[in-house]
Amino acid sequence: MRMSDQQTFLRDAMRRMNLTRDNFSDRIGVRKRALDTWLLPETSGEFRVMPDIVSKFVNEILAGESTKSPLTQSVYIARPDAPLREQISYNGKPQLLSVDQFSRDSLEQLFRVTDIMQPIARRQKVSRILEGAVLANLFFEASTRTRISFGAAFCRLGGSVCDTTGFTFSSMTKGESIYDTSRVISGYVDALVVRHPEQGAVDEFARATNIPVINGGDGPGEHPSQAILDLYTIQREFSRLGKLIDGAHIVMAGDLKYGRTVHSLIKLLALYRGLRFTLIAPPGLEMPAHILDRIARGGHVVEQSTSLAQGLKGADIVYATRIQKERFADEAIEGYTPDFQINQAMIDATCSADTIVMHPLPRDGRPGANDLSTDLNHDPRLAIFRQTDNGIPVRMAIFATLLGVENQVQHSMRDVSWRSPHHVGPDDAVFDGLD
Ligand code: CP
Repeated sequence: MRMSDQQTFLRDAMRRMNLTRDNFSDRIGVRKRALDTWLLPETSGEFRVMPDIVSKFVNEILAGESTKSPLTQSVYIARPDAPLREQISYNGKPQLLSVDQFSRDSLEQLFRVTDIMQPIARRQKVSRILEGAVLANLFFEASTRTRISFGAAFCRLGGSVCDTTGFTFSSMTKGESIYDTSRVISGYVDALVVRHPEQGAVDEFARATNIPVINGGDGPGEHPSQAILDLYTIQREFSRLGKLIDGAHIVMAGDLKYGRTVHSLIKLLALYRGLRFTLIAPPGLEMPAHILDRIARGGHVVEQSTSLAQGLKGADIVYATRIQKERFADEAIEGYTPDFQINQAMIDATCSADTIVMHPLPRDGRPGANDLSTDLNHDPRLAIFRQTDNGIPVRMAIFATLLGVENQVQHSMRDVSWRSPHHVGPDDAVFDGLD
């Protein structure tokens, strides 16, 4: 087994067995210290190769686990042994429109593909598995992360990208329908990523084509790839901290009415067991009732609050969101009040050393917005750039799965020929390195 395969194999095994590092080392009968050395980057002086006997034993345990029934089934699920693209298909097509297409099992399969993509995302390996394929990025609403990271993910797998931004330079301004636009572009490219200001509009694009369509955000509706990368980030952070998602305390704070990322994320988190959600929103911007009902039906505890100082106590995850003023109907809120701002003082006063602070970004840095403060930038608990970094392997995994090449990626990799800095950002934590 190659070194990077060893890390992927072990991380996937822990995830599938739903065990922390401590519990996993107990379960397979090895010392925690030994397991830690097998999980280190191969460039570390303390890295060790795992003995064959251990990998055989872990494989035997996993074979036993796979005969158990999946924990949760999505309404869209095909046979549990079907290829992942069939399991998560939407109306029989390889398209990603909603997080409802996932069960816990299929989500964790996608995370396994994401782990395989990490050496490419971390600029150690290159792959040309999508060579010749063309992506159209159709963004009818502002975006930095989603548009660039979908494009970069496609390019890092060897594909090419065509972009269009806004309505101004699209023939939709001449009255062209979504159906015609989608069908025409489908004759030019192999996949579409679409962001649109109206909820349901991306579904309309998807109905007009058989090629993969990915929802890059539809108004206040959903943003599935953001939720998937958020959950992947939570899993990685918890793995580092020795925690499990089952039983975690998740705080979501901010504009929970119009924030599509929280709508998608809370539904994905609800696939896990026994979570406690504390939802903190200014009056008038609370989480929609239909989502609350669904979460409560899943047996999770849901508390609502308007006080950050109270609600943040005991949080494993604090997930902040921007006020989505561009979606306001008749709301008069200009920005968060100062007592609503998540900053260093608030986190220090209410949270523990292993609380993780997240935000889908962009955060609104304008005066009076009182969005997530930049004074947390040096605090390793702030995971916002780990989230954005994880957007690349997650989106590569989505493309590879929808285009049916996920099983060929590992063998397509070769070493990079250039050098990258060890840390991408000046404030990155030690564990953020590209190793
Ligand atoms: N998180 C997110 O969707 O960011 P962008 O709007 O910049 O794509």
